[in-house]
Amino acid sequence: METKKLAGQTALVTGASSGIGKACAIALGEAGANVVVNFAGNSAGADEAVDIIKETGSGAIAIRADVSKKDQVDAMFAEAVKAFGTVDILVNNAGLQKDAAFVDMTLEDWNYVLGVNLTGQFLCAQSAVKEFLRRGMNGHRSLGKIICMSSVHELIPWAGHINYAASKGGVMLMMRSLAQELGPMKIRVNSIAPGAIKTPINRMAWETPEAEQRLLRLIPYKRVGDVADIGNAAVWLASDESDYIHGATIFVDGGMTLYPGFEDNG
Ligand code: BGC
Repeated sequence: METKKLAGQTALVTGASSGIGKACAIALGEAGANVVVNFAGNSAGADEAVDIIKETGSGAIAIRADVSKKDQVDAMFAEAVKAFGTVDILVNNAGLQKDAAFVDMTLEDWNYVLGVNLTGQFLCAQSAVKEFLRRGMNGHRSLGKIICMSSVHELIPWAGHINYAASKGGVMLMMRSLAQELGPMKIRVNSIAPGAIKTPINRMAWETPEAEQRLLRLIPYKRVGDVADIGNAAVWLASDESDYIHGATIFVDGGMTLYPGFEDNG
């Protein structure tokens, strides 16, 4: 039997009870990793991911933690290490939108989105790095892998979503700076920047045929993305096959970042 690509490794995926996070957790499990399925509120979604992963033969547990709270992140990593011995792969995925016109955006909505999407990634990355350093090299090419879930909106400005776009712009330079600082320790850090992927976060943008047609104008490849598109990228970025990819943002967006408004005459 062929050894699975991520056999013997443990992945912790934040925000893994639905959407992109859940798909990444399942894909990493299918690739042979034990998976810690983090969730904030949706325990049923997390349990479902755990069941699917266990059916593939990998270990899986669900852990509740609000990634914007340091004590909860610390406790989650301690529990993960207790369950599986260490963590090799962090998928910093938990993220949300709280959209409003700029003049109406409350400080609470600003802080909430920045807290989960950016501070959450900082806290989880720091806990992961501490665990990588404690554990030391363990037979894989790097000491550990961090995959940050960014967005095409680390690049594309987004009116009406100032908090979200600011959080993803922050993820972009946090990831690149982390890659610069942690590379010498053999810790590999990259981002995935999804475009429009069919998940609950953007249901309104694809739910009706009219909405989907409007959305497709922004996608040169003329297909709305699927969560498996992101899961596949996460497995590859977590594996030794991508060992020389470091500090990169992989756009998985059907070309959304190609200025589709210019496909005609400008
Ligand atoms: C957002 C989605 C949006 C997509 C493309 C994502 O980061 O969360 O709501 O559909 O970017 O604009």
